[in-house]
Amino acid sequence: MTYGAVTKAVIPAAGLGTRFLPATKATPKEMLPVVDTPAIQLVVEEAASAGLGDVLMVTGRNKRPLEDHFDRAAELESILAAKGDDEKLALVQQSTDLASVHYVRQGEPKGLGHAVLCAQAHVGREPFAVLLGDDLIDPRDPLLKQMVGLRAEHGGSVIALMEVPRSQIHLYGCAAVEPIGDDPDIVRVTDLVEKPSADEAPSLYAVIGRYVLDPAVFSILEKTEPGRGGEIQLTDALRVLADSTPAAEGGGVIGVVFRGRRYDTGDRLSYLQAVVQLACERDDLGPELRAWLKEFVSTL
Ligand code: UTP
Repeated sequence: MTYGAVTKAVIPAAGLGTRFLPATKATPKEMLPVVDTPAIQLVVEEAASAGLGDVLMVTGRNKRPLEDHFDRAAELESILAAKGDDEKLALVQQSTDLASVHYVRQGEPKGLGHAVLCAQAHVGREPFAVLLGDDLIDPRDPLLKQMVGLRAEHGGSVIALMEVPRSQIHLYGCAAVEPIGDDPDIVRVTDLVEKPSADEAPSLYAVIGRYVLDPAVFSILEKTEPGRGGEIQLTDALRVLADSTPAAEGGGVIGVVFRGRRYDTGDRLSYLQAVVQLACERDDLGPELRAWLKEFVSTL
């Protein structure tokens, strides 16, 4: 059995971003800079390098900065060109040429599941990837490519999991899993529990923000009632998929345990940690920042 190729990526960016107010009052949180690059650009780069050149952004009330970022900036480009500043010109143009970017509006932020449902007309009957800007995956660890390969092999849907300490599992969606082969990091997901207590968690596998979904998810989302927080939860639809086995009908969920480098930008503290960590690794900023940090830390 062969399954259709994944060519499209969906990036939900219509959340309210309340944990970052007031920065997100007029700007989507996906535009917040990770050192000097908006998180959403890093996510589009990741999709493109996994071979997904068609990107759909699900936007909310503040979609303008997103659209502008992936569009040409004629005035800025001509000023930089006139100055002969090719380096900065390349930085301005970088985001424009990455992928073919499309937009759809989520009228009201009714949850991640509802945001994914807004992609239905664009995606059609093909499998597609979903990438959340809250999680950044290091480009040296090509998780999405692996997930796309697993979908081609097994059909159904594929979700990314990360092993976390028991004390943190209550912060995540958690997957109950069983082995499917020799590789302990490729598993079948049998159930999902949203933010379980440490005692009730069926495993220490947390769901992170990368998914390759079968289009069967759309008809399930259409029927999914609002869950936790009054929002239509993607996790609730994934539970239904996990429970319906035959891959030929779009059911079945495989989990891939990611052991690479991931940076969490979803809340203020982890965002600050991610920015410092990534800046320390940069050739242009790292050496000076590391030296300053050592000195600064010694004064604390
Ligand atoms: P979060 O759960 O992090 O919510 O969404 P949020 O609104 O962005 O942030 P806080 O909690 O208020 O600070 C996870 C992802 O789903 C998108 C968000 O943009 C984010 O990428 N999302 C969420 C939507 O696109 N629409 C929604 O209705 C909800």
